[in-house]
Amino acid sequence: MTVEEGVTVDRVAPDGEILLRATDVTKHYPVRGRRQVLRAVDGVSLEVRGGETLGVVGESGCGKSTLGRCLVRLTELTSGRVEFDGQGISTLSTRRLRPVRPGMQLVFQDPQASLNPRRRAGDIAAEPLLVHRYGDAAAVRRKVGELFDVVGLAAAHLDRYPHEFSGGQRQRIGIARALATSPKLVVADEPVSALDVSIQAQVLNLFADLQEEFGLTYVFIAHDLGVVRHVSDRIAVMYLGEIVELAGTEALYSDPAHPYTQALLSAVPDIDDGSPTEEGPPRERIILTGEVPSPADKPTGCPFRTRCPYAQERCAAERPRLAVTASGRQVACHYPLAG
Ligand SMILES: Nc1ncnc2c1ncn2[C@@H]1O[C@H](COP(=O)(O)OP(=O)(O)OP(=O)(O)O)[C@@H](O)[C@H]1O
Ligand SMILES: [Mg+2]
Repeated sequence: MTVEEGVTVDRVAPDGEILLRATDVTKHYPVRGRRQVLRAVDGVSLEVRGGETLGVVGESGCGKSTLGRCLVRLTELTSGRVEFDGQGISTLSTRRLRPVRPGMQLVFQDPQASLNPRRRAGDIAAEPLLVHRYGDAAAVRRKVGELFDVVGLAAAHLDRYPHEFSGGQRQRIGIARALATSPKLVVADEPVSALDVSIQAQVLNLFADLQEEFGLTYVFIAHDLGVVRHVSDRIAVMYLGEIVELAGTEALYSDPAHPYTQALLSAVPDIDDGSPTEEGPPRERIILTGEVPSPADKPTGCPFRTRCPYAQERCAAERPRLAVTASGRQVACHYPLAG
């Protein structure tokens, strides 16, 4: 079974208020012995509505995790602004940030690495409750029991250690921990990448169920376009720290506008799930050549131009800005493939 066959979500685009807004967010790291910096995130602007899932995809090292951490202020921004629930959070002091923190949580890629092996599952899920002074020991225990039920774990699992669980179950512990503070926003950083394909669909379905039950808003990071397709309302494609395309999921898959999006799609095998949208003519394939340049040595102009089969002189001279096209998608390309 592929992941796609097992995922059973019919997405309805939400029309909530904007919950999260990033404006020109950058995160640069110094490079030892050199004057230029590593541009991990380089001018990202995006908005996420309440109840929506924004997928974020791109190759390894393009800045997805760094962006995710900036969005929930686990990393200080170099510049730019993040607003969460109507409040600017990028410059709040630690003290002023404290009441905001419970509203936004991160789920990590590797449940093995993100769970303390020496703590019992119930205690791990209880950590955020203790940090935010949820209540006495009995109240915490009761709440964690509820959380385990919500994520499909049994009460008997509370006292077991992480190594006694399967990968999928471990990720459920991580999700229970993230939900403990009743967040509005969950940034999920490749939450199924470390799992067997047969388990991925179950965990993706859990994310979908939880979203429906609690009205959660997700930023869902993946490098696999196959995974994000079925959970995302819109998708942002990143390359070398920048968003090169941001569009509704269907538009992005059926009609990619940025050559890099087209290249990423070329790498995803065609999925025959019987739906009529899959039956069009085969899309044009681009096979990526060359290496991704280092984010410490970004090309001038368009970051993708050194690997782009359509690059022209202008692409080296002028950095394309993310602009809204006639059909309402955002593309940073001088010669987009779709409007
Ligand atoms: N703390 C740090 N110090 C210095 N450089 C960093 C740091 N964190 C990330 N980087 C660099 O920033 C760039 C983006 O890294 P990031 O982990 O955000 O990418 P990613 O898209 O999440 O990759 P992956 O798909 O492998 O998880 C990389 O070049 C990485 O080496
Ligand atoms: Mg990452």
